[in-house]
Amino acid sequence: QDLPGKTAFVTGGASGIGLGIAKALLGAGMNVAIADIRQDHLDDAAAELDGGDKVLALQLDVTDRAAFAAAADATEAKFGKIHILCNNAGVAVVGPTDMATFADWDWVMGVNVGGTINGIVTMLPRMLKHGEGGHIVNTASMSALVPAPGTTIYSSGKAAVTSMMECMRPELESRGIVCSAFCPGAVQSNIAEAGRTRPDALAETGYAEADKGRQAGGSFFHLYQTKEEVGERVLTGILNDELYILTHAEFLIGVQERGEATTAAVQVQLPENEEYKNTFGVLFRNSAI
Ligand code: NAI
Repeated sequence: QDLPGKTAFVTGGASGIGLGIAKALLGAGMNVAIADIRQDHLDDAAAELDGGDKVLALQLDVTDRAAFAAAADATEAKFGKIHILCNNAGVAVVGPTDMATFADWDWVMGVNVGGTINGIVTMLPRMLKHGEGGHIVNTASMSALVPAPGTTIYSSGKAAVTSMMECMRPELESRGIVCSAFCPGAVQSNIAEAGRTRPDALAETGYAEADKGRQAGGSFFHLYQTKEEVGERVLTGILNDELYILTHAEFLIGVQERGEATTAAVQVQLPENEEYKNTFGVLFRNSAI
């Protein structure tokens, strides 16, 4: 779509990947609302973006539905219509599944999946209503496509937000809304600090020691892509209407192996009638919704 003058709303837009996306979209001529739970991140990001009237920095906890609606109202009041929604805010805990508490699950799923659901339920009707078309990008992760031991909570949440885009894309494309799942590999960011925004009510963790070790060890993300690189990648993915926006070629083998394993597991005898190919193709294009 034609981006200049249109408006994007980026959750977790004040740090790391979200800030990289905001930068790229601003560079493409869009107005950008960055919504983030951390006011210090918002202050730094607004200074870094230096976008004047084209940037709106909003304090928002994506798990708060009333606040999400208020943030959408504030964005529309400033810029008019919202055309691109990037559900990007995310947090992580990693470690053995048997150490995970309900609070570990609830916190990560609440932000990474619940926050994305809140974005979609809040914004989709508004995007459909103005009729100018739009794009939704859920920030998932390569871990949605190549899950690893120790990432059960994180990867299953990322698989959920990928699946949302896969289901919504064929449903919404005829109505002018394109859906993309962004699945980056490792990117420089502040995600190792995610624990700072963990609510007190969900503080009980089975990963306290593992997290301490992780924090002390620092981040290894400096080895990998920058927020600017992945922000530009998301912009290209939006301009090209890509369903899967991927970044790291290193994961090709993992993606292939998973595809081969699931393919090999389909041990039914294929029907002689070729009609099934149209009905049950990857995106279920012909299914009645
Ligand atoms: P980051 O920590 O630098 O940025 C995330 C931002 O989200 C922070 O500013 C944080 O304050 C905000 N946030 C956290 N909880 C929030 C909430 N409840 N409401 C609103 N904002 C909230 O981390 P990063 O790495 O840029 O993460 C962005 C997304 O990218 C996440 O969904 C993450 O899972 C995903 N991702 C990150 C990868 C990486 O290597 N950094 C790789 C693959 C995916």
